[in-house]
Amino acid sequence: MQAMRVTLFGASGLLGEELVRELKAESLTALSSKDADLRDRVRVREVVCESRPEWVILSAAYTDVDGCESNRERAFAVNCEGAVNVAEVAREAGSRLLFISTDYVFDGSKRSPYEITDPRNPASVYGRSKARAEERLLEILPEVCIARTSWLFGHGGKCFPATILKLAAARPEISVVIPVVDDQRGSPTFARDLASALVRLCRADARGIVHVTNSGECTWYEFAVEIVRASGLPAAVKPVSTAEFPRPAQRPAYSVLSPDSLHAYNVQMPDWRDALRRYLANSSLPAVRT
Ligand SMILES: NC(=O)c1ccc[n+]([C@@H]2O[C@H](COP(=O)([O-])OP(=O)(O)OC[C@H]3O[C@@H](n4cnc5c(N)ncnc54)[C@H](OP(=O)(O)O)[C@@H]3O)[C@@H](O)[C@H]2O)c1
Repeated sequence: MQAMRVTLFGASGLLGEELVRELKAESLTALSSKDADLRDRVRVREVVCESRPEWVILSAAYTDVDGCESNRERAFAVNCEGAVNVAEVAREAGSRLLFISTDYVFDGSKRSPYEITDPRNPASVYGRSKARAEERLLEILPEVCIARTSWLFGHGGKCFPATILKLAAARPEISVVIPVVDDQRGSPTFARDLASALVRLCRADARGIVHVTNSGECTWYEFAVEIVRASGLPAAVKPVSTAEFPRPAQRPAYSVLSPDSLHAYNVQMPDWRDALRRYLANSSLPAVRT
């Protein structure tokens, strides 16, 4: 297979690091914010024109969901206007664009998996900045591919399983009780599986909106229970409600994404429990009490 020329924004992030691994056999230009800030249109043009990619993958974003609530300007400048900069330059350069988006474009009021045709109705500033970016990108580059994903975990940065493992191992002399919300349901997604699926979508010349998550669904509480059980750490998880643990940004109560759009490209994703086992097998687990 001929190597693809790819320019990746967000290469230093949780997903970006896995994309770099996955794209190692390709001709890759991997960029962090230090190499090119999405808000700097001149610099974005420079790096894309220098690398002349077949595909630009835009994984970079301001991803602090709670931080976005108090920093709306930055959220829109990076996640929306920054994405527009990349799309306009991709159009000029004749490159395809793969934009990574989120389940938070939905309000979470459904109780069956979200389809790509369901209307966006984000409940947070982060979700609004990504939803607006999706709309603008579809106007600028109608053949853009928008891959929505959810509840990412992996080795390249902070993530939910790493936090639970840290809490569970914090006081090895006692069995720690960790409160976790049990009224938000979604699909945990391993960055490694996502990266592999995204590269397959590029190879398949995908376009339009595609939902890409590990299969299966759970609440954050159920996810935490499985992390603790699979790691063998001495901790207990206690189910709590979102109302008991309010956070600045509202999260969807339900954000499972239907896989039909992904299956149309003949790409299947493993179950999230299988993905978690593989994540844990490659994590340096905190010492377990004997
Ligand atoms: N994490 C999740 O649960 C989740 C769920 C759904 C969708 N997503 C989407 O998936 C994508 C990847 O998320 P992630 O969790 O891998 O993100 P992440 O770990 O927070 O990494 C963010 C990346 O974006 C870069 N970046 C931030 N601001 C930038 C700017 N102004 N200019 C250029 N680059 C900038 C960062 O570069 P530096 O390292 O140099 O700062 C880093 O490489 C994002 O588009 C996100 O919206 C994430």
